[in-house]
Amino acid sequence: MEQNKGETDCMNSDKNFEEMAKDLQEKINRDEEKTYSKKVIKEYRNPVNFGFIERPDATGQVKGPCSDTVRMDLRTRGNTVQDARFWTDGCGASIACGNMLTKMIKGKTIEHALKITSDELTAVLDGLPKENLHCSVLAVNTLHKAIENYKKNME
Ligand code: FES
Repeated sequence: MEQNKGETDCMNSDKNFEEMAKDLQEKINRDEEKTYSKKVIKEYRNPVNFGFIERPDATGQVKGPCSDTVRMDLRTRGNTVQDARFWTDGCGASIACGNMLTKMIKGKTIEHALKITSDELTAVLDGLPKENLHCSVLAVNTLHKAIENYKKNME
């Protein structure tokens, strides 16, 4: 079947668009790899703990100096963090920090969770760019807020 010129032009422009989109995605990936560690990229591309817990035992929500917000929900059993989820409207680094931090506290005691510092979180992620260090502080502050609320709920 013969194709008219309009169809051929249209198919060519679809192909050009696909190639442009692919090139752009590859450039974004290269820029990310230059900026972030492999672990940071892995965590923010697949944030398994992103979301909310229905009727959590405690929640913390903190707005950072960058105006981004992180929320963390905890489900506890006894003194142990049984489940943890986070939500953020922040940057990719804040997603990586929230995801890694929730992984680090699951199955651990509240006291253990409270001792995790932003420096430790950053180290577990194999580092963050200087301009993203506050994202790990925001994640840890949010966890502290959730634990503070947990303790209030226990009173
Ligand atoms: Fe605001 Fe990362 S959390 S820039």
